[in-house]
Amino acid sequence: MANARTATLAIDRAFKISEVDPRIFGSFIEHLGRAVYEGIYEPGHPKADKNGFRTDVAELVKELGVPLVRYPGGNFVSGYNWEDGVGPADKRPRRLDLAWKTVEPNLVGVNEFAHWAQLVGAEVNMSVNLGTRGPDEARALVEYCNHAGGSQWSDLRVSHGERDPHRFRTWCLGNEMDGPWQISHKTAEEYGRVACEAAKVMKWVDSTIELVACGSSNTRMATYPSWEMAVLDHVYDHVDYISLHSYYGNQENDIDNFLAKSLDMDSYIRTVIAACDVTQAKHRGKKVINLSFDEWNVWFHSHEDDKKVEPWTVAPHLLEDIYTFEDALLVGCLLITLLRHADRVKIACLAQLVNVIAPIMTEKGGPAWRQSIYYPFLHASRYGRGTALEVVVSSPRYDSKDFTDVPFVEATAVHNEPERELTIFAVNRDKQGDMNVEADIRTFENYRLVEHLVLENNDLKAVNAKGKETVSPHTLTGDKVDGGRLQMRLPKLSWNVIRLKG
Ligand code: AHR
Repeated sequence: MANARTATLAIDRAFKISEVDPRIFGSFIEHLGRAVYEGIYEPGHPKADKNGFRTDVAELVKELGVPLVRYPGGNFVSGYNWEDGVGPADKRPRRLDLAWKTVEPNLVGVNEFAHWAQLVGAEVNMSVNLGTRGPDEARALVEYCNHAGGSQWSDLRVSHGERDPHRFRTWCLGNEMDGPWQISHKTAEEYGRVACEAAKVMKWVDSTIELVACGSSNTRMATYPSWEMAVLDHVYDHVDYISLHSYYGNQENDIDNFLAKSLDMDSYIRTVIAACDVTQAKHRGKKVINLSFDEWNVWFHSHEDDKKVEPWTVAPHLLEDIYTFEDALLVGCLLITLLRHADRVKIACLAQLVNVIAPIMTEKGGPAWRQSIYYPFLHASRYGRGTALEVVVSSPRYDSKDFTDVPFVEATAVHNEPERELTIFAVNRDKQGDMNVEADIRTFENYRLVEHLVLENNDLKAVNAKGKETVSPHTLTGDKVDGGRLQMRLPKLSWNVIRLKG
């Protein structure tokens, strides 16, 4: 391309950020809309197994390689009685869920979800209700799920047909407790105290569990980041992670600004790391608090439709964003940002997984299909395992409405040493044209190009639909490796996965 801009990448196998914790490719299923009912679970569906789980959905989840799924909320968890979802299904209550104004039939609860997670090869990231409930119910739930037997709650589980404990490893101490929309919203002091006391007794029941305290709901909260400072001060000795949540949208139809929104995620992560480290110093502690970015995605398409949804029904169509090609590009930038912080972001959950702001959609009685955002997530999850490398990107930059100095090229690389594979992930944010990129890969002697996968589309608003994948990747030819230099072309506005093997 005659007028293409140019950029360079310096990639050195010695410049290691950290091993990528596979849990950063986690996701989330909440009792919300059609995530559970008509999503993962639909008895009577032609593809349902004997437990009512849709095997077509399970296959797509397995294809995505999701190693961890957060459950059961979300805002839902702050009013949830976990006991409602265990025991004989015909005895379980139908409850009003005040978070989403729906009726929860409790046909799926913790035991069913544990079985589904096993089916898809994921671990459960369990949440406890610190809204309407507290330490007592939280410790009972840990005992029910993780204790082998010989006590009230573990024996109750055994009596429900679950002889073996689930041994859930990671647990969230409530959800978005800083948000006034939350059932039993709390101040940082109120939450910090209850989270500290819940954490203590939960770990006394099972000392092997890891705990996630609630951070801010997003960077626009008036209490951000003083919330983190106050909460961490209370919980430092008892938790392992603090959570971050963020959703982005292109309400203003401004592609330059929209694609720059991963810079907000980047500065959010940096700020929360700083809060963790200051707290560690203040407590004269040895323990490093890591980050669980346990809700992230694009979310804005469904806002207006959701206002029209009839309240108090079971599994209404809520938060059913249909994702565009440009959304997939931002998801790519967000994945790159998470990988670049692999030293501190150890858990991350694409929110959510099925039907609700999700990469996978289903039709009741019909097929399941892949949204546009499915693909960058699939690629990162499949090829982003290994050691995250510090890539030096020299790229032309631009200013947008909310951001300055935005690099046109967003890139990172992951080295899978045992497999001798190097994967470069890159987004070209430039709407004017292709970007010619030269990557210095001299320390990867004898690595050859395997493939260059690309997601590109002339229509930024292109979407997928049932039986029609308008947005899907293809391979690009023309890249060259010569003398330790990789020459590649990133098409204008594209997500790229460049795979090399030694
Ligand atoms: O993921 C949808 C909702 O977004 C979650 O329930 C809540 O935690 C967040 O506000």
